[in-house]
Amino acid sequence: MSIYINNENKENILKKITQIDVSAKTPTDETERQYYFMAKARKHVQALSEELGRTPTCCVTTFGCQMNARDSEKLVGILEVVGYEIVDTEKADFVIFNTCTVRDNANQRVYGRLGELKSLKKKNPAMKIALCGCMMQEPSVVEKIKTSYRFVDLIFGTHNIFKFAELLNATFEQKRVVIDIWKDTDQIVEDLPIERKYPFKSGTNIMFGCNNFCSYCIVPYVRGRERSRKPEDIVAEIKDLVADGVVEIMLLGQNVNSYGKNLETPMSFAELLQEIEKIEGLERIRFMTSHPKDLSDELIEVMAKSKKICKHLHLPLQSGSSRILKIMNRRYTKEQYLELAAKIRKAIPDIALTTDIIVGFPGETYEDVLETIDVIKQVKYDNAFTFIYSKRTGTPAAAMENQVPEYVVKKHFDMVLNTVQEISREQVKRYEGEIQDVLVEELNEHEEGFVTGRLSNNTLVHFKGEPGLIGKIVKVKLNKCQGFYYMGEQV
Ligand code: 5AD
Ligand code: SF4
Repeated sequence: MSIYINNENKENILKKITQIDVSAKTPTDETERQYYFMAKARKHVQALSEELGRTPTCCVTTFGCQMNARDSEKLVGILEVVGYEIVDTEKADFVIFNTCTVRDNANQRVYGRLGELKSLKKKNPAMKIALCGCMMQEPSVVEKIKTSYRFVDLIFGTHNIFKFAELLNATFEQKRVVIDIWKDTDQIVEDLPIERKYPFKSGTNIMFGCNNFCSYCIVPYVRGRERSRKPEDIVAEIKDLVADGVVEIMLLGQNVNSYGKNLETPMSFAELLQEIEKIEGLERIRFMTSHPKDLSDELIEVMAKSKKICKHLHLPLQSGSSRILKIMNRRYTKEQYLELAAKIRKAIPDIALTTDIIVGFPGETYEDVLETIDVIKQVKYDNAFTFIYSKRTGTPAAAMENQVPEYVVKKHFDMVLNTVQEISREQVKRYEGEIQDVLVEELNEHEEGFVTGRLSNNTLVHFKGEPGLIGKIVKVKLNKCQGFYYMGEQV
């Protein structure tokens, strides 16, 4: 279980930390060990604070997926406990980039932003810069940073993020750059502090890693093998979150449908969902991501019956061509995917299906792209994230000889994107005029006096409302669909 920081328990956590004897031997229990280093780091931050004559600030910038967003909350939790003030600007005393490497443009963005940090550090030499996340699991990246970005103070990876307190402490005690990257781990360290971004909704990891090895994907190499958290830890954590005001939970894993297979007492994802459904006060359950090959009838049944599981399923297709799917190592055919989608729609008619599509996989032809377009038209997605294939060193696809020329990929990409937009515009609007529950998430960015929330099926809705509605579920009439969102009014 994670310890969520709120006003009440922040004091308890700080009390626990101030009682730790930092001159004693380092504890062997991993959780205790990390609290010990939080106590040590806190002393360094206090000294820095006296030197600066103000509280040192820190900024965590997240790239990539919701797993990373969740990891960043863990980093922020520790930074807060050791005494940093969390700020939104990178003009801070400590800046961490939590990186992503799923596609090359994610890497390029990190390098670009690192260049900007270099000039900030020139102005503030006491500034510390840390890099972590998936990109750091690639040895070539770490080499490049060591040689070309020598102003970086700390580099660590995805498997030892639980050691952040210890590594942060090392940056105060060691003059040289601190580098700690693990190849893999089977450890899941519980009970560390964590800061939540939203008071009313939260993600929670139910598993880590991925065993699928889709031939284009770097994730299994940088996130390691599949490890599931124990159901009792997950349920206890969600209960705790609900007691702290959370109404919506997002269960996170690279392939949630294979949850529980490696537990001492195996348990299916559908069974886990049923346990979570029982938690009183929890209103909405979401999850990400489902691999089509592992999606069971049991799960469809549980979703159809559930009052809390949201009417949304993200079901990555990647390609509609059975030939390409085979080379991608996805382990389903176009027909099997279509059959599955039809089965889900039949059991849960008002569900929104969304997907991921890759265009330009090695050897992909115009005919293959037409197959993908055919699936989009048949399944009628509410939304589809369309990506241009990116060659990831070390994956089987990167070594394939028939890489598709850029201009061809671009043409195919536009064809797919146009189809997605056309179909999803029609799909999203099917509830126009209806009244539905909306969880209000934030003030509208563009229009004063308006708030923004989400339907159960994940579609955004904007309507006139007070800030006090944030975190509440209210009835909204969906007056007008504007492409990908609704304008509505509270009823
Ligand atoms: N190139 C392009 N897209 C990729 N994805 C994963 N690896 C690659 C790659 N090498 C996409 C997949 C996945 C999503 C998270 O990112 O569509 O579902
Ligand atoms: Fe990558 Fe495939 Fe695992 Fe998803 S299921 S993380 S695409 S290897």
